[in-house]
Amino acid sequence: MTQTIRVGALISGGGTNLQAIIDACENHRIDAQMVFVGSDNPDAAGLQRAAVHHIPTFVVDYRAAIAGFSRNPVSAQLPSDFDLDELRAKQSLFPPETDQPRITNFLKTRAIAESALLEAMQPFEYDLLVLAGFMRNLSPYLIDRVNTDRDRPRIMNIHPALLPAFAGVDGYGDTFRYGCKVGGCTVHFVDYGEDSGPIIGQRAFPIRPGDGLEAIRKRGLEEEWLLYPQCIQLFAQGRLRVVRKRWELGRKRTVERRIVEIAPQD
Ligand code: GRF
Repeated sequence: MTQTIRVGALISGGGTNLQAIIDACENHRIDAQMVFVGSDNPDAAGLQRAAVHHIPTFVVDYRAAIAGFSRNPVSAQLPSDFDLDELRAKQSLFPPETDQPRITNFLKTRAIAESALLEAMQPFEYDLLVLAGFMRNLSPYLIDRVNTDRDRPRIMNIHPALLPAFAGVDGYGDTFRYGCKVGGCTVHFVDYGEDSGPIIGQRAFPIRPGDGLEAIRKRGLEEEWLLYPQCIQLFAQGRLRVVRKRWELGRKRTVERRIVEIAPQD
């Protein structure tokens, strides 16, 4: 049975995906309602879009939080439930060879900013958190406090490439520079890695001779505006299930992965 779900969004910039989601909610194309919009960036233009639609907004200024920590790391206020060893063991944003102080610095600054985010989100009841052009990686600190049921993740992200190709900040740029003949976008659940969580939906488009980066970005965004509401609707309909799969490939090689299964519509 489909219920109207409450959706919170985090953004960093222009918020065209946010707008697509707001419009889909208001036109009743999806069974969802936006309950807050938060940003790490006080100047994010998308905050205005939310205000126009009377959606509550808040800002947690990551840049200020990180600068404050760098100035005086010793007296920085870490959340009381911060556990560096646990977060270090869980995170998979950094490869193992990364120097430990860099990882520690990341986990500490993120926990400070993320505890402020959690506090700002706390007054709102929400079923789903969507990252809509939120340009900050989430650490396990926030992920675990939102995903209280491990088998039912509830943080989604949209990525401007056909994952698992081109994770990172410049999906369309990477697609263009690689000479791909097809581009696309992906909505996935967020896990502890970078753009590595279980894939919910993807849309692709052809790249024609002569298409430059701007043409690819424009086409890609148009697909994003269709894809994100579709994936939110699947969540609202209760049709998404994350299952652990294991494949034996011979010669003792196995592949294990959590994937999303989409149940047929009732
Ligand atoms: C989109 O391309 C999204 O895939 C990426 O950041 C961009 C955000 O655009 N994560 P907007 O702020 O939604 O216009």
